Amino acid sequence: MTAPAILVENVTVHYGEVLALDSASLTLETARICGLIGMNGSGKSTLFKVVMGMIKPDAGRVLIGGQSPSKARKEGGIGYVPQSEDVDWQFPLSVRDVVMMGRYGHQGFTRRPSKADRAAVDEALDRVELSEYADRQIGQLSGGQKKRAFVARGIAQGATMMLLDEPFAGVDKRSEATISRLLRELASDGCTILISTHDLHAMPALCDEAVLLMRRVLMHGAPELVLQPENLAMAFGLDVLNPNAPERTHPAGTAAVVHSATAAGTHPKNRG
Ligand SMILES: Nc1ncnc2c1ncn2[C@@H]1O[C@H](COP(=O)(O)OP(=O)(O)OP(=O)(O)O)[C@@H](O)[C@H]1O
Ligand SMILES: [Mg+2]
Repeated sequence: MTAPAILVENVTVHYGEVLALDSASLTLETARICGLIGMNGSGKSTLFKVVMGMIKPDAGRVLIGGQSPSKARKEGGIGYVPQSEDVDWQFPLSVRDVVMMGRYGHQGFTRRPSKADRAAVDEALDRVELSEYADRQIGQLSGGQKKRAFVARGIAQGATMMLLDEPFAGVDKRSEATISRLLRELASDGCTILISTHDLHAMPALCDEAVLLMRRVLMHGAPELVLQPENLAMAFGLDVLNPNAPERTHPAGTAAVVHSATAAGTHPKNRG
C-alpha cells in the first residue's frame, strides 16, 4: 500500500502559551484537492507550516508521502503559496526571481540557472498568465497576481504537492478562476493540493473534499457534507452562509470531537 500524500497524526502545536493545534489528525490521498476551512485563528496556517516542516509539532507526527516534511521539502516536492501576511513584499526580487526559487533544488551549488531552469520558469509564468510581469518587483503586483506568481513557483519546481494558504483572499474572480483551473490541471497530473479559503461558495466546484478545522479536525469529508450549515456552525459559531440568522448553540472551539465524515476518496469529482 502506498503512503498517503499527507499524514498528520495527533499533532499539537503551541506558540508559547497559545494552543494553535490540539491533537489534529488528517490523512490526504494523492492527487486530491482538499479545502481547509476554519475561523481566523483556528490553526490553518499553523497546519500548513507543520506540513511544510517549518514548525516542529510539540506532539504527534507528520509524514509526507511516508517521509519527513524536511526531507520532502528538500527534495522539492512541496510547493507553498503563503498567506500574504507572511510575505515580505518589499524584498528586492522580481517575479521571475521568485519563480526561479522553485528551481533551486534543481540547480547546483552555484545556483546558476541552466537553460532548462529558464525554460521551466518561462513556461510556469506563461501558465499563470504573468509573462508580461516577469521583470516587475514582486511587491508591485496586484493581490491576485502575487498569488499566481507563487503558484508559478510551485509549477516551476515540479512540486507533487501544493499548499495554498488563502490564495483567493483579495483576489478577483478572474484570478480565482485562473488559479482554480490550474489547480485542477495540477491535480489531474497527480499533484496533491491542500488549500485554505474563506470562500465557501467556491469550494464545492474546486475541492474533492473539505476539512473543518478548529485547532483540531472537526470534520473531513465531501464538501457538500462539510458545508452543511450545522457543520459550519460547529466551526464558526454561527450560520456563516446566512450570518443574520440567530447564533447557533455550538460555540466555536467547544465542539466535542466530531465524526470524520465519509472516507476521503469516495467522492471523486469530474475533473476538467
Ligand atoms: N508566531 C506566532 N506567535 C504566537 N502566536 C501565534 C503565532 N502564529 C499564530 N499564532 C496563534 O496561533 C493560533 C492559530 O493561528 P493561525 O495563524 O494558524 O490561524 P489561521 O487559522 O491561519 O487564522 P487566519 O484565518 O486568521 O489566517 C492563533 O491563536 C494565533 O494568534
Ligand atoms: Mg492563516
